[in-house]
Amino acid sequence: MSLSRRTFVAGALALSGAPLARAAEPLRSLAARQGIEFGCAISSRHLGEADLMELVSRECAGIVPEGEGKWASLRPSQDIFNFAPLDAIAGLARGRGLALRGHTLLWQHSLPDWLARILSDTPERAEEVLIHHVDRVVRRYGGFIRCWDVVNEVLGDGGLRPGPWVDALGLEAVTIAFAASRAASPNTRLILNETAIESAAGPHAQRRHALLKLMETLLSRGVPMDGLGIQAHLRCSEPIDQGELRRFLSDVGGLGLDILITELDVNDAEVSGDPERRDRVVADHASRFLDVVLDELAVKSVYCWGLSDRHSWLHHHPAGWRADGARTRPLPFDAGLVAKPLAGALARAFAGARWRP
Ligand code: XIL
Repeated sequence: MSLSRRTFVAGALALSGAPLARAAEPLRSLAARQGIEFGCAISSRHLGEADLMELVSRECAGIVPEGEGKWASLRPSQDIFNFAPLDAIAGLARGRGLALRGHTLLWQHSLPDWLARILSDTPERAEEVLIHHVDRVVRRYGGFIRCWDVVNEVLGDGGLRPGPWVDALGLEAVTIAFAASRAASPNTRLILNETAIESAAGPHAQRRHALLKLMETLLSRGVPMDGLGIQAHLRCSEPIDQGELRRFLSDVGGLGLDILITELDVNDAEVSGDPERRDRVVADHASRFLDVVLDELAVKSVYCWGLSDRHSWLHHHPAGWRADGARTRPLPFDAGLVAKPLAGALARAFAGARWRP
């Protein structure tokens, strides 16, 4: 969308007297008006927080499990599948009429200890345990999970990221996971989800290039991959090169792939000042990203990795620890579930986006 339209929308909002911070309209409906699905990650640990679940239901059209779809949660032992936590999140989605995304079937983290022994055995054994897992998990939810992050963070700084799956099977791990997912649920959209590809930083640019080559290779081999997930764990200290990002998104769309923003949050660990200033810097940084991303019609959804600063993985991760000891404020709503400027930035980005079929 041209800047002039976005300027017009922002001006119209200002003239309308609607607080630029954000209209009262839920983010889910502002997004849906342009054919975009807005959602967030939730944890089964927080299902009992009625106020948070109300906010999620009001603002989101979909949810994705933060940890319950990972091996460590699903597979306490080789012979046991523990579906209860993921079923609880699926139950919330079903009860509230929310879409449910799946996350994630092949990742080098959140793996149970018993798996290491098998993956270091033979490639045949590794393939067998991967197919069995994908088949059981994907088949259980079928089309209710309309979209799975089949493979997560498979790229490292110089090619495939080393890890138990890649060490055991190489690129075959990726093709096996996608093929088994398609066989288990033919109508579910299958996503390659990647991180650290959003900013102007050198490693991010190199990873974007490598990712395009990887996706071209997978598609040329007939791998049933439907889209790219861009995690979008943004950092205010890492500038966005809007031209480079726009070109990358266009190249991915040119492959016929959907593009999903899967884990948006904005890390203000290096931003100085009081919370009000930090919140403005976070919102401005997000706008620079969203304005470009939502101009690309291949982008079909935007999910945040959480909805409220009450719970963020960054509070427990060194990347999110501030020198002043304050908690990072990476999400659209504060710990009291009040909308922050980031919610307004999302609202304006959705309002200014072009409609997509
Ligand atoms: C994170 C969870 O939010 C944490 O609770 C957990 O301890 C580690 O994993 N990229 C991903 C997510 O794809 O699965 C990660 O989620 C965050 C980074």
